[in-house]
Amino acid sequence: ATAVGLGAFGLYSMWAAFQNSFYTWGPYLSPFYSLLLEFSWMPHWFSPAFLILGAPLGFRATCYYYRKAYYRAFFFSPPACSVGKGRSQGYNGERAFPFILQNLHRFFMYLAVLFIFILGYDAVLGMHFPLDSTGKVMSDAFHYAPTSHRWGFGVGSAVLILNVILLSCYTFGCHSLRHLIGGKTDCFSCIASGGPTPPASYKAFQKVSWLNERHMQFAWASLASVGLADIYVRGVAMGLWRDLYFLF
Ligand code: FES
Repeated sequence: ATAVGLGAFGLYSMWAAFQNSFYTWGPYLSPFYSLLLEFSWMPHWFSPAFLILGAPLGFRATCYYYRKAYYRAFFFSPPACSVGKGRSQGYNGERAFPFILQNLHRFFMYLAVLFIFILGYDAVLGMHFPLDSTGKVMSDAFHYAPTSHRWGFGVGSAVLILNVILLSCYTFGCHSLRHLIGGKTDCFSCIASGGPTPPASYKAFQKVSWLNERHMQFAWASLASVGLADIYVRGVAMGLWRDLYFLF
């Protein structure tokens, strides 16, 4: 099931990144294309998704939870807890190339936190509807200047907001972030049990720990929400379904 889930998401995200079309409608932008870096030197087949997908994919690929999942599901190394690896000769785990690169996770984490703010900004813009001169919502306001804007709320707005909430829960429950916030401190427990007033960082550590305990669930929920957000925006842009929205 893990292999099917991760494999399906990997194939879909590659397909979506290569499309280079139908990634925006009205105020909505697919999270696969967010930042929407477009430069004049880019040939028409070069999708803006190629410039940004490395950061979230690198973050997921080196995540401690996903490592466990794909080591088991794809490599059978090991297939489960207390089951032999199947080969013992020359196996160096994460101490040698290529798996030593998993240590880059903490750096991908910095980029992932940045993306939370970018996607949060997109979610706010997802309630700022671009209008043409006749007062209709424009389908492609990212490439053609709108006449005006009105605030509103649509199903797409809710999809983008839910996506950024789930991605935040996944990102802020990261093991590397937990270490950065307090995991490296030895005496939180003695402070918490009757010592001086716990520092503010202890509260942050507790919150990150709460998310960290649910890291697997948020990993899957956010994986699904990113894919569904792209499918939703793509479907509206292609005319497969209509977005329901109202303007204030
Ligand atoms: Fe999973 Fe960092 S450990 S995101």
